Amino acid sequence: YDTVGIMGAMVEELELLHQHVEVESTVVKAGMTFYKGRWQGKNIVFCKSGVGKVNAAVCTQALIDLGAECVLFTGVAGAVDPKLEIGDIVVSTSSIQHDMDCSPLGFAPGVIPFQELSEFPADPELVQVASVASDRLFPGRSMKGIVLSGDQFIASREKVQSLYETFHGACAEMEGASLAQVCAMNGIPYVVIRSMSDKADGSANVNFAEFTVQASNNSYRIIDEIIRNL
Ligand code: ADE
Repeated sequence: YDTVGIMGAMVEELELLHQHVEVESTVVKAGMTFYKGRWQGKNIVFCKSGVGKVNAAVCTQALIDLGAECVLFTGVAGAVDPKLEIGDIVVSTSSIQHDMDCSPLGFAPGVIPFQELSEFPADPELVQVASVASDRLFPGRSMKGIVLSGDQFIASREKVQSLYETFHGACAEMEGASLAQVCAMNGIPYVVIRSMSDKADGSANVNFAEFTVQASNNSYRIIDEIIRNL
């Protein structure tokens, strides 16, 4: 790839990129600031999208319009698979919008009516590079899995359980499947890398702030390694 797009939702998730990427120019689109620069011999464009699917969608389209040929997401998520502990890594194999629900019309949960694709596959090559990086940096603490996205901070045991049973997801967050849909619409490869900041249960709100910085840093380290290997 000549130009790699990188997105995070929150300040913490992009802090280390700001420290390491040599920024050459900035562009403002839709009120978001996009940083273009060089990192490890690659052209990079990165942006803080803000939280949620609409922010992520607009940000992804702008990244693509600014020349990104693939999009990587770095950030934190709530663990859904009970095997995951705080700090562990999930590399997306696909992503689903778990809050898309037209079940009264007979559509399965997560299915976007009248379109072919609702579970957006991540790019196999990016998944491979990301999971090799993740396994090397965090041996025994990383897995590939389905990323579930919705405009909800998940914070109850019942909800986590139902997400796991309905979608067999690895983790829950608020942007990935939105980014994935925009990438699919544009024919652009993507992968999401998330480190677990909480277990999306009752304790989530307590864990979240405490573990977000550490988890964001874990995710950044993987992005760093991916960029070296692309
Ligand atoms: N991001 C980090 N933790 C999350 C959670 N529990 N739900 C949704 N998004 C998250």
